[in-house]
Amino acid sequence: MKLPVAVIGVGHLGKEHARILASLPEVDLVGVVDPNAAQAQAVAQRLGTQAHADYRPLLGSLRAAVIAAPTAYHHAIACDFLRHGIPLLVEKPLASTREQGNEMVALARRHHVLLQVGHIERFNPAYEELQRQRLTPRYIRCERHGGFTGRSGDVGAVLDLMIHDLDLVLHLVNEPIARVEALGTAILGGHEDLAQARITFVNGCIADLAVCRVSPEVSRTMRIVGTQGYAQVDWAAKTVSVYRPTGELAPLDSRRLNPERVSDLKENLFGKYITSQTIECAAHHTQDQLTRELTEFVQCVQNGTAPRVDGVAGLSALEAACRVLDLIQPREIRRAA
Ligand SMILES: NC(=O)c1ccc[n+]([C@@H]2O[C@H](COP(=O)([O-])OP(=O)(O)OC[C@H]3O[C@@H](n4cnc5c(N)ncnc54)[C@H](O)[C@@H]3O)[C@@H](O)[C@H]2O)c1
Repeated sequence: MKLPVAVIGVGHLGKEHARILASLPEVDLVGVVDPNAAQAQAVAQRLGTQAHADYRPLLGSLRAAVIAAPTAYHHAIACDFLRHGIPLLVEKPLASTREQGNEMVALARRHHVLLQVGHIERFNPAYEELQRQRLTPRYIRCERHGGFTGRSGDVGAVLDLMIHDLDLVLHLVNEPIARVEALGTAILGGHEDLAQARITFVNGCIADLAVCRVSPEVSRTMRIVGTQGYAQVDWAAKTVSVYRPTGELAPLDSRRLNPERVSDLKENLFGKYITSQTIECAAHHTQDQLTRELTEFVQCVQNGTAPRVDGVAGLSALEAACRVLDLIQPREIRRAA
């Protein structure tokens, strides 16, 4: 039997969730919900489903739902669904505050309901390749710069953009956080548009994260210095470049380098002493990330399996983001206002 599913909030991203769900053979997209009646109607008409202004009449007939409303509404909507035992994929960030996130995870646990969070970079083939490289990270540097979109005005750049990298870094390092340092500033309005954070983990690994959502340049990258090598990832291009020392790279005494050794190193550093490889990961999958995320969600609902990014992972990223925000607000924003 097909799984009756609805999408709550069909704006920029929700309409894509709805489009993909409507195309999955195992899903029956029974409705889309949005208080913007014209938007709900347009999406529903395109996909041959029903438009609703309110999700409550649907609670009795759904077996799963995707919440892609603005972040400020995730908590209230999700709690209603979880109390009705309906499995959820909630877009990132899980919620606006730790308290809300905690309540959502506790409700999912109490009602034994699947709660997945839309940290879509986990489905980026470049991230899957990075994991296969098994570099134990000692230092990570993330950059996520985008242009002004006019969306996600209910949150700042930390909950909008940095949350992606916080989730990836927490998953890669898999250690408790020892210390957080951060700064940020508002450029356009009431929330930070630019932020910088340093996370120090208890094992000594350090992650520097930089985000900007009013940037003239667009970039989404991560650099990892690991005990086994160095990697550079471009999330948009879906490429991973990996550099590893070969057995030839013996420790040097830089005071005793003769000219022949210096020129050998200059000429052969990359190749003889350090191998380098750039892996184009886009070809690994024919499906896009959102389709893979939704397919996995549907399979988890049908098979009772655990999602790749569960509520606890979403909550960890949210808690780290809130620690960053605690250090930014309200000082820098007031100063910039
Ligand atoms: N995973 C990602 O990479 C990614 C990318 C973009 C957005 N998002 C997340 O998706 C969510 C939506 O972002 P967006 O860019 O699509 O925003 P958007 O503003 O384009 O769309 C939000 C839609 O929700 C509707 N809405 C408002 N209140 C609602 C309510 N109470 N119930 C149902 N619908 C309601 C709005 O009318 C609008 O159509 C946000 O949480 C955002 O952080 C995630």
